Amino acid sequence: MKKGFLSPLFLLLLCFPGLSLAQTDNIHGTSSTYQVPSDPLVQAKLETWQDLKFGIIIHWGVYAVPGMIESWALCSEDWITRPEGMSYSDFKRWYWNLSNIFNPVNFNPERWARVSREAGMKYLVFTTKHHDGFAMFDTRQSDYKITAGPFRHHPKANVAYHVFEAYRQEGLMIGAYFSKPDWHSQDFWWDKYATPNRNPNYNILKYPEKWKAFQDFTFAQIQELMQDYGAIDILWLDGGWIRPKHTVNDEVRAWGAPIPDWSQEIDMPAIAEMGRKAQPGLIIADRTVHGPYENYLTPERRIPDTKLDHPWESCLPLGNNWGYVPNDPLKSPTTVIHTLVEVVAKGGNLLLGIGPQSDGTFPLEVEQRLQAIGAWLETNGEALYGTRAVDRYQDGQTFFTGKGETTYATHLLPEGEAVPRDIRWAGHLPGRGQQITCLETGKSVKWRIEGEQLVVEVPKSLVGQERPAVAFALAPMQ
Ligand code: GLC
Repeated sequence: MKKGFLSPLFLLLLCFPGLSLAQTDNIHGTSSTYQVPSDPLVQAKLETWQDLKFGIIIHWGVYAVPGMIESWALCSEDWITRPEGMSYSDFKRWYWNLSNIFNPVNFNPERWARVSREAGMKYLVFTTKHHDGFAMFDTRQSDYKITAGPFRHHPKANVAYHVFEAYRQEGLMIGAYFSKPDWHSQDFWWDKYATPNRNPNYNILKYPEKWKAFQDFTFAQIQELMQDYGAIDILWLDGGWIRPKHTVNDEVRAWGAPIPDWSQEIDMPAIAEMGRKAQPGLIIADRTVHGPYENYLTPERRIPDTKLDHPWESCLPLGNNWGYVPNDPLKSPTTVIHTLVEVVAKGGNLLLGIGPQSDGTFPLEVEQRLQAIGAWLETNGEALYGTRAVDRYQDGQTFFTGKGETTYATHLLPEGEAVPRDIRWAGHLPGRGQQITCLETGKSVKWRIEGEQLVVEVPKSLVGQERPAVAFALAPMQ
């Protein structure tokens, strides 16, 4: 066992996972403008992606060992808390050493993929590298990687490769999360200086060759992912503060993160060209950097107030944290289903965050929640998958979507409340020759009009049962 494993801090973190910070302090802003990509293959893939509606984002790295916030504690911004009585430099040393401990011997990506598919998830985004710079793939550009530590002899040591492969086998679309910032790189956080915030810690105008080296390193790592890891559909680039100066507008300034005087761009045109050569139609989500490489918008931890008419995805974690943190309160299946229904009605996708434990397994409570979500989607998913937003997408707790001649109405029920005998909504009334079908029973239901409202009689077998939501299809009679 390497030195540091039983350090007081490690034990402290095991005992007080609450040290993992208020994640919600660090909300990544979103863009309000959208540029339609010009490549028809990208447009086509975006259409397919918009049919999928529900994805999983997996944050996994050395931070799973103590079960603390992903990467951020390395950074010295004032919203970050660390254990008392330990110097910043000692903390960093301890954190870097986690890579010598991380040994997920129960890693079973086939199980992750199966559980995710059964939850109704249709695409994956996996952290190939987070801000701490620890590569979950066998990069040739650095030794700070999963294939250099105790896990290196495992047949699935090249973790990202096997995660992608397992999810592909289950038929999901594949996204590579990649952090543009890399706090382990000497060309990003140079030991010569302190590391006060998330940005490169040297003046990149004064040391252009250093920044160039960082750009080359970033390009080379992304190139490995694009060329050697099979079919990839999405390149999900996090760390929106690494961006060209001309894209910093009032919206970006309002996020409150420190912004230096110089441009912190990596060479996105070159990365996109290389990426799309290897992966035709690759969707790029250069988060918050409005322009040709933000092919969809990524509001974080929130649902937009209204429907948006361009491709977008809300990412939010099942717990409070993205990565695994013991005792992190998890959202209920009902909450997740309600969120998904609202997101889809507003024209978006939901990317639900899960953090595997350091041994390589999903926590049992996470699997149980995913199973419950999947059970509801199994019978009601038709109201969501492959649909598009309709103009009048909401009436109170009823959300509407459309597909061809069919309009779907999904009525949300409060947590723990029984299904009532009647469900009412205004706005989408059946036309002449149309029938209303309850998706769970597959049978048509009786209905009547009362004033402005449609009153649907719920099938008897459902009345009094607990359901997160009940969905109906309004379609021409068979
Ligand atoms: C936030 C967090 C980052 C996380 C991301 C996922 O930007 O700061 O750590 O990976 O959300 O959406």
